Amino acid sequence: MTGGALTYGEGLGNTAMRVGVLASGSGSNLQALLDACRPPAPAEVVLVACNVAGAGAVERARAAGVATWHIADPADGAALLAALTGAGVDLVVLAGYLKLIPADVVTAYSGRMINIHPALLPSFGGKGMYGRRVHEAVLAAGATVSGPTVHLVTAEYDRGPILAQWPVPVRAGDTPETLRVRVLAVEHQLLPAVVLAAARAGHPVRLTPAESGFAITDAPVVSVVPVVPVVPVVPVDATRLNRK
Ligand code: GRF
Repeated sequence: MTGGALTYGEGLGNTAMRVGVLASGSGSNLQALLDACRPPAPAEVVLVACNVAGAGAVERARAAGVATWHIADPADGAALLAALTGAGVDLVVLAGYLKLIPADVVTAYSGRMINIHPALLPSFGGKGMYGRRVHEAVLAAGATVSGPTVHLVTAEYDRGPILAQWPVPVRAGDTPETLRVRVLAVEHQLLPAVVLAAARAGHPVRLTPAESGFAITDAPVVSVVPVVPVVPVVPVDATRLNRK
């Protein structure tokens, strides 16, 4: 890990994994992390880096009293790395960050950088697949299930090892916006679950549904409702076949 672990908790001796969040937008996932990473949680958000001045993510960080850093040049890996290591960041979380992470940062934080994507990878990911486009593609494909994926970041967009997914059913009549809203609500639970599990283990770990309290409590969310009416199967009476 880079940097030293922070000790807090009024003498309880708790150590927290130091989390740095990169964001470009409204920061609702950041907010979910800020809410989940309050003492005595095993993780603490220590830095929010954003490439968009005045983005909601920056406001949320300020409101929570978390240090912010403006990414003036997203291609400047040395500057980003200096900001992350300077804040003692152990785990980097991409929460709606829309720029490519420079290769030197990916290498330095290999196995310690995660991203959340609003669809079930490896489908509906890759360059250019972000925001509304993801949900449009899911609906255009006729997929019956979508849902967020949290994965390790590698040099390729949306291709790193998957850590956790949670299914969200596509409903008849869904629009990209209605689907986005339901997937986002699940993101707000899945991302903190992965970060807290990483903090407890000391490194990112895979969450299977059976091991995740979130998954168990939300299991009934999955309901398979046929969109196309099913024609009842009538048993064939063999004696009636070939009768004129
Ligand atoms: C989320 O849907 C996330 O999966 C994607 O970007 C969106 C960010 O939303 N990578 P927010 O800024 O956290 O509200």
